Amino acid sequence: MSPTIAILGGTGPAGTGLALRWARAGESIIIGSRSAQRARDAAAKIADKLGSAAIVTGDSNANACAASDLLALTVPFEGQAALLKELKPSLKPGSILIDATVPLASGVGGRASRTLGVWQGSAAQQAAELVPKGVTVVAAFQNCSADVMNGDGPVECDVIVCSEDPAATQMVCDLAAKIPGVRAIDGGKLENARIVEQITALLIGLNIRHKGHGGIRITGLPPTSYRSSK
Ligand SMILES: NC(=O)c1ccc[n+]([C@@H]2O[C@H](COP(=O)([O-])OP(=O)(O)OC[C@H]3O[C@@H](n4cnc5c(N)ncnc54)[C@H](OP(=O)(O)O)[C@@H]3O)[C@@H](O)[C@H]2O)c1
Repeated sequence: MSPTIAILGGTGPAGTGLALRWARAGESIIIGSRSAQRARDAAAKIADKLGSAAIVTGDSNANACAASDLLALTVPFEGQAALLKELKPSLKPGSILIDATVPLASGVGGRASRTLGVWQGSAAQQAAELVPKGVTVVAAFQNCSADVMNGDGPVECDVIVCSEDPAATQMVCDLAAKIPGVRAIDGGKLENARIVEQITALLIGLNIRHKGHGGIRITGLPPTSYRSSK
């Protein structure tokens, strides 16, 4: 069992998908939102679905952030920087922030199958620049379809985990592997998040074209490179 996981901006499909999957695996979850009531409503829906054993609560982003040092960030790119600046006082050194943000062009009226250029290289690197010293940003889950994550079946998607801290990468790989069907792979440095984020735009285009919920699989690595629940 890991410490409580706070999911900031956790009321949208990406956040509720993670909350559902981790709560189902026995993790304790706080969903964060700009509205504590919206967070409590989202938490209640998940608790209803999973039954009394599930530990899922909701609170404001600031309170959720203050209550945990294991955080996930699931907001649109256009809200990422402002939210991280606002939460800076609540982010504790030693915390891990799992960032699933993708800089989709749809945020500025473009197509969701295209990405925006980010000065720092990627949304995850932008997050790393904004968090206080001592907070480790780990990029992960950008390629997992929220539709699939919010369902009950296995999530047929590899999760490429990137950060500057190998121990934090391993911790997030362990968390990802708790989701049935997911295989977590150490993706190396945080700068590789740029490529992983781009893949999401491709997947969105493919999903529109083929009317599906595609994910990715990386083949041919040694078995020890894949972390999964099997
Ligand atoms: N959807 C997917 O399949 C998927 C898959 C992988 C990665 N992602 C990435 O994960 C992130 C979240 O995706 P999503 O589909 O869940 O997005 P979303 O529904 O548009 O937004 C998620 C939540 O973020 C909060 N939010 C929205 N705008 C905000 C702003 N300007 N400032 C602060 N908070 C804001 C909202 O919560 P409150 O109003 O309750 O605060 C909202 O419920 C995105 O960066 C996306 O690219 C999505």
